[in-house]
This record gives sequence, C-alpha cells and structure tokens, in this order.
Amino acid sequence: MSATRHFLTLLDFSPRELEQLIQRAIQMKQQHRAGLDQRAFPGRVLAMIFAKSSTRTRVSFEAGMAQLGGHAMFLSPHDTQLGRGEPIEDSARVISSMVDIVMIRTFGHDIVERFAAQSRVPVINALTDDYHPCQLLADMQTWVERRGSIAGRSVCWVGDGNNMCQSYINAARQFDFELRIACPAGFEPDSDLLAANADRVRIEHEPLVAATGADLVVTDVWASMGQEQEQRHRAQVFARYQVNAELMSRAASDALYMHCLPAHRGEEISAELMDAPDTVIWEEAENRLHAQKALLETLLLANQQG
Ligand code: CP
Ligand code: NVA
Repeated sequence: MSATRHFLTLLDFSPRELEQLIQRAIQMKQQHRAGLDQRAFPGRVLAMIFAKSSTRTRVSFEAGMAQLGGHAMFLSPHDTQLGRGEPIEDSARVISSMVDIVMIRTFGHDIVERFAAQSRVPVINALTDDYHPCQLLADMQTWVERRGSIAGRSVCWVGDGNNMCQSYINAARQFDFELRIACPAGFEPDSDLLAANADRVRIEHEPLVAATGADLVVTDVWASMGQEQEQRHRAQVFARYQVNAELMSRAASDALYMHCLPAHRGEEISAELMDAPDTVIWEEAENRLHAQKALLETLLLANQQG
C-alpha cells in the first residue's frame, strides 16, 4: 500500500501543517462568504460512514463537499453490509476503490485504523470513542480568528476525560499550549496519553482551581454516545463540573469558552453561558464546515500527487 495520508488523530499532521490548514480554513471561510466559486474538485466523491448519530459532522462534510464541487455519500451500518458483519478490511478495499476520500464516525478507534490500513484513499476520523480531531480543527480556527496564536496559552478542560479531552491533549502538543484537565476521579483520560504529554498536560480534579487564569475553557457532555445507560450515574458524579459564570470568573478576564455541541444546558454548561450573546460556540460549530473543507482539499491534493 502506498503512503496514503490519513487524518485519524492530530498527530497525523505536523504542527506546521496544522497551522497552514487553519490559515487555509480562515481564507476559505472568507472566500465562501464572498460568494467565490470553490468547486475545485468536480466529480470527487466522499463516502461518509456513520455508526453513531451526528448533526454538525454530517451537515458540514456534506455541504463542504458540495461546495468543493464534489459529492458526499451517506452510509450507515443499518443499511450496508457493514452492519451485517462484512469485515472492515474488505469494506475498506471495496469502498476505497470507488470513492476519492472516506470519513468514518464509529465506536472503537481500531476500526478507523483498520479501515485506513486497507484504504487506497485518505480516511478522516469523524469521531471515535478515543478521538475527535475534526472538532479540534474548528476549535483552533475559532481561537485563532478571535485571539491569534494559541501557543503558550493555558487551556482548561472541564468534564469527562473523553474523546474530546484526549484530542485536546494531542492539540496541546501540536499547537503548543498548556492544558489543565478538571475531571472527577476515575474519569481521567488514557494514562499512557497523559504520561506521553506530561510536559504540557496535568490533571487538577478541582474545577475552580483548574480554571484559574485559563485563556480558554472547554467542556463536553458528561455521557458520550454509547454511554447513554450511564447518564444518571454520571449526572451525580459530574454535578460540580459545570462551566458557568462562577467558573468563568476564575478564568482570565478575556477568556473564551467552547463546547463541541450538542450541549445539555444545566448539566456541563449553564443555560446562561450557552445563550450569552457574545459566546463563540456558534462560530465554533460553523467552523466545522470551513476547517473540514480545508482538510478535504489538503487530503485530496495530497492523494492526487502521491
Ligand atoms: N460536535 C459534533 O461532532 O457534533 P455532531 O455529533 O452533531 O456531529
Ligand atoms: N464526547 C461526545 C462528543 C459528541 C460530538 C460523544 O462522543 O458523544
């Protein structure tokens, strides 16, 4: 198999490539708003495999691919052979022989790795149980648009040590910021990942302490997709881990807060912050479109040259 480029975690791109991608996303956003024709990839097809629900990811990839002149195809395990036990490797060989790029949202991270290993076209991780790197592109774009470089800044994660938290750990490394993680005991991110990034990332179980002086505060749902049966238990364990006005009063005076959405008002984030007129959360969501168009462009061009 040739060295097809994939985007399974933020570590698949160098810090310099990520910086260029964010700048390109900002440029493509401006061009899109100015009504520029961005159809540089006519006839190209994106296969979108969704084993979990989605609003933002599906709409942004499908709209983005159309704006680039191509086509996006929605595939669900419910009505493809993926749901009837056809091996992921066989599916990868077949699907990648017919399309130009693949996006996968699924459970185990090994599924995107196994698919990518057999794919002749680029594979994008659109969320696994372990990572959500596309969301980080949008979050970093939002930060850069509002504040410039995030290098050297301090970021506070409040909540579960989940796929978003683990992508923030990778982002701390790739974008060079300090990350404090406020999570309840027993809900920490992967210990090997923490150990590998101990120079930039640390756990601070007390949310008000973790948020002190932070430039950016980030949260996410307490129970992720696939953990629905734990929702009630988690609501009790995480009750003190809410991003609200009191917590933000500990952060830097011009601190931003982000949430990948969907949000549960009154749980991980207060209704007051969600509905604040100056929140960047809606920009953050919109930037999924622009950041992923830059990602699609980068990977399609790389595979064309490869
Ligand atoms: N943030 C995010 O990935 O949203 P969706 O689950 O709606 O795609
Ligand atoms: N941590 C959440 C993110 C949703 C975009 C989940 O995996 O459900």
